[in-house]
Amino acid sequence: MRLFLDTANIDHIRHGVEMGIVSGVTTNPSLVSKEGKVNYQKLVKEICSIVPGPVSTEVLSQNTQGMISEAREIAKWADNIVVKIPASIEGVKATSVLNRENIKVNFTLCFSVNQALLGAAAGAAFISPFVGRLDDIGEDGMKVVFDIVQFLRYYQLPTQVIAASMRHTQHCIMAAKAGAHIATIPYKVLLQMIQHPLTDIGIKRFAQDWQEVMGDGRVA
Ligand code: G3P
Repeated sequence: MRLFLDTANIDHIRHGVEMGIVSGVTTNPSLVSKEGKVNYQKLVKEICSIVPGPVSTEVLSQNTQGMISEAREIAKWADNIVVKIPASIEGVKATSVLNRENIKVNFTLCFSVNQALLGAAAGAAFISPFVGRLDDIGEDGMKVVFDIVQFLRYYQLPTQVIAASMRHTQHCIMAAKAGAHIATIPYKVLLQMIQHPLTDIGIKRFAQDWQEVMGDGRVA
């Protein structure tokens, strides 16, 4: 499972990429708004220049023609750009058209297997089931991820599943078990993934034991 960062924050993206484990980024209008009143195009282009893989950014239009026009424009911004299109009827139509034009679509705000079936049929490169938001309303978000992965695998479709709306580290483990191709996670969750108190205690103890006998000497 590949890891993407779900943020528009440049410092957080740089840090994730420097760690060598972040291979893509997903944004949405809410995440971009968190960065203040920015120049949207400039921000997205900068993210695309930092990240070695796909960068998803979302259209604001709610009608098909508007989505298509926005997507065509956004697609010119960088080679690694992916356009997020919502899982509505208008979005399915737009995805079909954009697919024929070889513009990569991330079919977003996906909350059901049926929505994913239509997104994949329309040729979306990625489908983003929102796990946390389904959990919020008492449904099993990860079951939807699992079921989408199953049908894509069964029919050998090239669409990849991005487990999104990931709220905590357990979601990461569950997404990996469900077979998600990608998990897009908040920066805070990325940092939490590496944390374990026994690792911290172990690092300290190894240093102390070495120091007591060997002093400051190093292996080399
Ligand atoms: O990737 C989708 C994500 O940004 C939504 O997350 O926490 O707002 O449901 P959340």
